[in-house]
Parts: sequence; C-alpha cells; structure tokens
Amino acid sequence: MKVGIVGAGMVGSAAAYALGLRGVASEVVLVDLDSALAEAHALDIAHALPFASGTSIASGDYDRLRNAGIVIIAAGSAQRPGETRTDLLGRNAAIFRDIIGEIMRVCPDVILLVASNPVDIMTQITQVISGLPAGRVIGSGTILDTARFRSLLGAHLHVSPRSIHAYVLGEHGDSQVLAWSSARAGAVPIATFATQVGAPITESVRAEIDDRTRNAAYTIIRGKGSTYYGIAAGLARLIGAIRQDEQAVFSVSIVTENTEGVQDVALSIPRIVGREGVTADLYPELDAQERAALHRSASVLRGLFESVPL
Ligand code: 2OP
Repeated sequence: MKVGIVGAGMVGSAAAYALGLRGVASEVVLVDLDSALAEAHALDIAHALPFASGTSIASGDYDRLRNAGIVIIAAGSAQRPGETRTDLLGRNAAIFRDIIGEIMRVCPDVILLVASNPVDIMTQITQVISGLPAGRVIGSGTILDTARFRSLLGAHLHVSPRSIHAYVLGEHGDSQVLAWSSARAGAVPIATFATQVGAPITESVRAEIDDRTRNAAYTIIRGKGSTYYGIAAGLARLIGAIRQDEQAVFSVSIVTENTEGVQDVALSIPRIVGREGVTADLYPELDAQERAALHRSASVLRGLFESVPL
C-alpha cells in the first residue's frame, strides 16, 4: 500500500519514519510546499530503512500521490507555546481547500487521515470539501489522549498500558472527556482493581491523571516546541489497522450524526477501523456527568465548525 503524507513538518516526517520502522506501507511519499525540506526528510529516512523494513520513501509533488490508498494530512501551523489547538483554526482552514482539491484530483477513492489541529474541525472541513463518505475521512482525534490516559493508568496500577481499556472521548483539545466509568484493567473495572491492588483512585489521583492527560501537549510544547513522536506512532498504528483490515478499535474522529443530542460534528468515540475506514462505533456506557461533558465538548466543536466560512 502506498501512503502519502502532505506536510513534511515534525508530525509528517515523524509519521513517515514510524511507517518505515513498522514496515506498514510499501511506499511512502512526502509532499510539502517546501520541496527541499520534504526531499531532505525523505533522504534521511531512506537511510534508516535498510535497518528496518522494505518500505521505500520518496518526496514529490501531488502527482506522486496517484494510487495512494491513504493520505495523511499533517500540513499547517502547529501550536506555539501558550496557544490552544483552536487558535490555529483560521490559519489552517485557509490552506486546506487547496490541499484537499489536489489530493482528490489524483486519488479520488483515498482514505484521508487528518492530523492537523484543531483536528476535529479540520476533519469536518476535510469531509465537507472532499465529499468523501464520513468513514473515509478520519481524524487522529483522541487516539493520543487515549494513549496518554492508558499509560498514566498503567503506571498507577502497574499494568501494561496495552491491557488497560480506557478511552478519551470528544474533542482532541481542552474539552475532552476521560471516560472513567467504563475504564477497565483487563476485564475488571478500574476502581475495583485499583482498590484490590492497594492503589485506590482517590479524588486527587483522578484529578492528577485527568490534568496530565488533558494538558500533556502543553507540557511538551513548553519543553521542546512541539509534539510528534506520539502522534506519529498512532498514525502508523492506524495505517497498519487499515492495511490489514483489522477491524480494531481506536478513538478516532469522524463526522458523527448525533452525539448526546448534538448533530453532525466530528469528534472521537471508540470506532472500528479496517480496510474501508471507520465502519462502526462502539458508544461506551457513560455516567450522567460524562454524558453532560460529552454534550459540552460536542457543542464546543459544533460552534467552532459553524464559525468557519466554507
Ligand atoms: C498533541 O496533543 C499538540 O495535538 C497535539 O500532542
């Protein structure tokens, strides 16, 4: 499978590197307005591939994306220290129309993976402009917040994050919702297991895990300017699931008909991902507080989407 990546900044190039290390694509093509940057990343990554996999990598213009099965869109501005993801909306919405037009010209049946922030709004914009079915325009959404939540829970409970089943829902941003009530270690509710192992989820533990999940990106951006390894690994994992038609579950963002009474908004809930993109949702059981928080998150996103002139 050929995978295109539009935007050879930190996220796009790290995604190309992760795809090459995992060997989940036969060919990766990097496209960027700054063709020298795309070419340099492709060359650098090409030198890693003999140690890793049979993936090949190149850079080029949009025509090089012809026949790509999946295109990642990682173009646009990233957050600067002190900015929220939604502060990027004006800057990134403006450049998406051209990018999507170019991609659709050369690969009309593609699956698009949107990684640019604010990712939920950019996903909805991409779906509207491309005209693709909702399940084929997938935002990375809260895939990374879910990984952060799982790794913090895993560290607290001394359980591998891969055996923690817990999801972050709603916006990939400040209004995200940590679904505590449905979180499990193996098949055991988190609170029950935590008490059993003498590490109860007290109010302060819960508040700390919530804060460190919700605000992880701000912490990283303060320290090194941007985040990219986590999202790159998540994108490579999603592409593996699409390529292998895994029907695996990820919290990703697609335009969703009805979320707690809010119509037509892109946000994350756990969804099944395979060769055709997203084919079904697994709406988790939520308590009343979580439902209200998800309604709020969906309303924030709907309001932001309506503010974008399309
Ligand atoms: C992240 O959460 C900034 O959206 C990016 O790491």
